Amino acid sequence: MTFDHQGDAFHHLAECLKSLDRGFENLPEFSPRVDPEAIRTTLLETAERLRENRPYHHPLYIGQMLKPPHPVARAAYALAMCLNPNNHALDGGLATSAMEKEAVAGIARMFGLEPHLGHLCGGGTMANFEALWVGRELRPGRAVAASAQAHYTHARLSAVLGMPFVKLPVDATGRMDAQALEQALEVGAIGTVVVTLGTTAAGGVDPLDRVLDLRSRYDFRVHVDAAYGGYFTLADNLEPEPRGAFRRIDEADSIVIDPHKHGLQPYGCGCVLFRDPAVGRFYKHDSPYTYFSSSELHLGEISLECSRAGASAAALWATMRMLPLVPGGAFASGLESCREAALALHRALEANDRYAPLFPPQLDIVVWAVRAATAKDSSKRARRLFDAAERLNLHLALATFPRAMCEAARPVATWDADEIVCLRACVMKPEHREWMPEILRRLNRSEAARD
Ligand SMILES: Cc1ncc(COP(=O)(O)O)c(C=O)c1O
Repeated sequence: MTFDHQGDAFHHLAECLKSLDRGFENLPEFSPRVDPEAIRTTLLETAERLRENRPYHHPLYIGQMLKPPHPVARAAYALAMCLNPNNHALDGGLATSAMEKEAVAGIARMFGLEPHLGHLCGGGTMANFEALWVGRELRPGRAVAASAQAHYTHARLSAVLGMPFVKLPVDATGRMDAQALEQALEVGAIGTVVVTLGTTAAGGVDPLDRVLDLRSRYDFRVHVDAAYGGYFTLADNLEPEPRGAFRRIDEADSIVIDPHKHGLQPYGCGCVLFRDPAVGRFYKHDSPYTYFSSSELHLGEISLECSRAGASAAALWATMRMLPLVPGGAFASGLESCREAALALHRALEANDRYAPLFPPQLDIVVWAVRAATAKDSSKRARRLFDAAERLNLHLALATFPRAMCEAARPVATWDADEIVCLRACVMKPEHREWMPEILRRLNRSEAARD
């Protein structure tokens, strides 16, 4: 694959630009002051600098959470950039605000969250920030509780919001310990519980059903951080436990999902959803500058960020139009392929006595330790393998896991440290399924070249 053959999406741009032009043909001609040759040379320089990246778009990149946007998303984003709409207000983003509302309603429908209040935002951090902030307004003075494997943003955001933070222990597979949560709830100071469906390090799915059941005895809000895992709601090949969690996601008070992770979008596309549209009252503000062109809802009236790229909404809307969020559809089948590839990787690692996969993947993230005599030695070997693989153009990631999450896999005989640096693969591209044999060949060659 080369960049100029991305489903030919960019080749259609010339035709689409003409179509866009037709919407404004009653305006007098004007020529922007640009120097085409300077643009060309600057863009060529830019392309050269961009070569310094790792090959995030290629199936041999199987490291961090990086998924190439769909070609239609890239092209729709570029198309919208000709106007550069701002979805803060209808004044600046008339069409793209409508597209955002439609796309967000589509995501809410995927979760069965109807009615809902929600909008796009810069990413998972901003989306979680808004959900925790609304939680604070509804349960003032109370704490946020999240598991030790929840994204670090929750502890930091709680500090920004002046909310106490309670870190809950996890089980051996990195899922929130529901019993420990109940003990913490008994103390009575927790206002919001963050349930992660797809933890960042290992793709673990917290027991949402057990947390929801606790609401009959304790008063707290349930916030689901599905920034990574949310789209797996559509996958038909999850194990019963994670599947059960996704089935009850519509009972959460708020949900975060990142279209810029598994939703095939360029960065700058997070989404927060609330089950009760009445929480919109907390956003209320007056603006002397905006909101003049329509009495309809402006997205800036229900979001904390002001200016936001309307192009993000156009890209998401186009992608969802082409790949609707329905079970059994092409989008869902892409996720199912990722999961199949992750399971194939896990099986291959299990069959290799040099590796100790920590546990089977709950979604599509695979983590494994390198067997060694001691924990420190295992970490050293993982780092060396990571470097050797990179030299062979196989791009993995590293992640540190506590002893309690590694022990069951018995990676080492002697524990001279309380944690191990493990290898981690985010198997996020549907193409990874076909590429798995080649990935495994390169992993074997890297192992041989490690020392
Ligand atoms: C579960 C989870 N929550 C929140 C975030 C933060 O999202 P972002 O990087 O889009 O701000 C991440 C990022 O990896 C994540 O995995």
